[in-house]
Amino acid sequence: MSLPTSSSAPTTASPAPTAAASPRPAAVAAPNQAELLDFVRRTAADTDLIASLPLDPQGRTWVRLEGPGGSEAWLIGWPPGTGTGWHDHAESVGAFLTASGELKENSLAARLPADGWKTLELSEKIDRERQLTAGQGRAFGRHHVHEVLNESLTEHAVSVHAYYPPLPQIRRYSRSGQVLRLESVERPEDWQ
Ligand SMILES: [Fe+2]
Repeated sequence: MSLPTSSSAPTTASPAPTAAASPRPAAVAAPNQAELLDFVRRTAADTDLIASLPLDPQGRTWVRLEGPGGSEAWLIGWPPGTGTGWHDHAESVGAFLTASGELKENSLAARLPADGWKTLELSEKIDRERQLTAGQGRAFGRHHVHEVLNESLTEHAVSVHAYYPPLPQIRRYSRSGQVLRLESVERPEDWQ
């Protein structure tokens, strides 16, 4: 992952007053993966906020948060045994981090064709798996395909998520062995 470097001029020989040195008005830059990960990490450390999420043993719960730079952010509660199913996030980049409990992420180290297919046979060795205990998270790029699960039999998990741009759609898949099948395309109004 490459991070943008500062575009400012060297600071060692700059006699100009700071106020006159700004070449353009401040614009809010699109948050990158590192900034989204930083946001979810800081948010997960806010124990009062994490504790404020209502938990339901019957299903996932969520609260919308204000993400940085216009990003979409969520606090999500996962009862034991719940998961998202396989999905992607279209053109959005994102990050998520476990605040309490433990989550598992299964992901694909491959980019899927955008359109024009209903089933896809995955090649071998593209499956990735990670356990994310409290304080652990990850960022991801465009077209990331994954499922997130709380495999605990007893413990609730809580996590923080951020996406930019805000999710225009989610494609949902079922999976049987190495065959991935596109099941539905959800738009924001479907999951409010
Ligand atoms: Fe996701």
